[in-house]
Amino acid sequence: MTTIIKGNIIHAPELGRLDILPGGHLVLEDGVIQAISQALPKEYAGLPVTDYGDKLILQSFADCHLHGSQYPFLGTGMDVTLLDWLQKYAFPVEKRFADVNYARMVYRQLAEELIANGTTRVIMFSSLHADGTLVLMEELERAGISGYVGKVNMDRNGSDELHETTEESISETLRWLDHCGQFRSVKPILTPRFTPSCTDELMAWLGKTSRERDLYVHSHLSENDREIAWVHQLHPGCERYWETYAKFGLWKDHTVMAHCVYSDETERKAMREHNVMAVHCPDSNVNVRSGIAPVRRMLEEGNWVSLGSDIAGGAHLSMLEVMTCAIRSSKLKSTEDGTQPLNAAEAYYLGTTAGHRYFGAGKGFAIGDRLHAVVVDDSRLCSVGEMSLSDRLERALYRVSRQEIKAVYAEGKLVKCS
Ligand code: GUN
Ligand code: FE
Repeated sequence: MTTIIKGNIIHAPELGRLDILPGGHLVLEDGVIQAISQALPKEYAGLPVTDYGDKLILQSFADCHLHGSQYPFLGTGMDVTLLDWLQKYAFPVEKRFADVNYARMVYRQLAEELIANGTTRVIMFSSLHADGTLVLMEELERAGISGYVGKVNMDRNGSDELHETTEESISETLRWLDHCGQFRSVKPILTPRFTPSCTDELMAWLGKTSRERDLYVHSHLSENDREIAWVHQLHPGCERYWETYAKFGLWKDHTVMAHCVYSDETERKAMREHNVMAVHCPDSNVNVRSGIAPVRRMLEEGNWVSLGSDIAGGAHLSMLEVMTCAIRSSKLKSTEDGTQPLNAAEAYYLGTTAGHRYFGAGKGFAIGDRLHAVVVDDSRLCSVGEMSLSDRLERALYRVSRQEIKAVYAEGKLVKCS
C-alpha cells in the first residue's frame, strides 16, 4: 500500500547537518520510505496525500538507555549520589516488579507515555524478574515501540530484597530467553547491571551466552567516581573499567554502555575499536551528580554516541528534554575544557539518527527504512515573526510537549494520532 505524507520535513542525516524540505513529501510503500523530495514524484501524482500543512515532520526519537522498573519514582529521590541512590530509591522500587500485575500496570502506562512523547525505539533495562521483563516486552510491542529489553542480572551487591543467586540468574535468564521468540519488534539484550552487581562466574556465563546466542550486551560504564574506585577494588588486574567487561567477552560490536562520564582516551579508543555505543544521559548525570561526559571529545574522535533518558536517574522521559539537557550540559563542560558546546542540530541528530543506527537504520529519513517520525504542531508557540524551519526545530526541542505531537509513525505505521 502506498502512503504519501506532506509537511515541513526536517531530518538530520549527519551530525550538525539538517536537511529541510518545506512542504516536502515522503512516499511510503508498506511503511518503507521510497522517496523523500520537495515535489511529489510524477509517478505518484493523483494518489491520496495526508497533508500535515504547516506542521513539522521530524524523525522520531530513540531512547538508548532507560530503566522501565524505575518509572514509578520518576521525578523523586534527587538528594543522593549514585551508589546511595541505588540502595535508597532504585532497589526498593525494582523489587516490586516480582508482582506481574504491578508490572503490567506500570509498563502499560510507560509504553503509552513513550509513544505520546515520540519515542519509538528504546534500549531498556527491566528488573531482575523474568516474568516482569516479558510483560514489559509485551507492552512495548502493543504500543508500537521497537527495541531491546533486558532482564537485569545482579547476583551480588543488591539488597536483602533485590537479589538473585548466580544459579537463579542463569536459569531465569534462560527461561526468559526461551519466551522471547514471540515478539516481532522487541528483542532481548543481555543486561549485567554493572560490574559491581555481577560475580565473575555470572559475567563469564553472560559472555559465553552472548557469543553462543548472538545477543547484544547493555550495561553501565564509568559513571561515577565511587563506582569506578569500587570496580578497581573488585578487579585489581584491570587497569580500566571497560576491561572488566572485555575480560568476559562482553565488550564487542553493538555493546551499549550508558554514561561514560569518566571514559578517558584509552577507554574511548576501545569503544571505537569494538563498535561499542556510548549512551550520553545528561539529565541523569546532573541529578545524581555524576559529572558531565566529554561528549564533544567523543564525537571529534569518531565515537558512536547516542542519548538516553536514563529514567529515573533522569527525571524526563521526553527525548526533547534530554536533547536540550545535552546542550545545556555541553555548555557547562565548555567552561571547563574549552570544547565547543552542542547545538540544536547536533542534539537532534544524537537523539534520532545516532540511536536509530543501532537498529540498522540509515541516515535521517533514508530510502529503504521503515518510517519513524513525529508530526509536530507548533502553531500554539509564540514567535516574533516569520521563522525559518531550522529556528522552528530549535524551538521545538525546547518548547514542544506531548500535546503538540499530533502523530507518531513507528516501523512505518501510524501508531498514534490526535
Ligand atoms: N549503575 C548501576 N545501576 C544503575 C542504575 O539503575 N542507574 C544508573 N544511573 N546507574 C546505575
Ligand atoms: Fe542507567
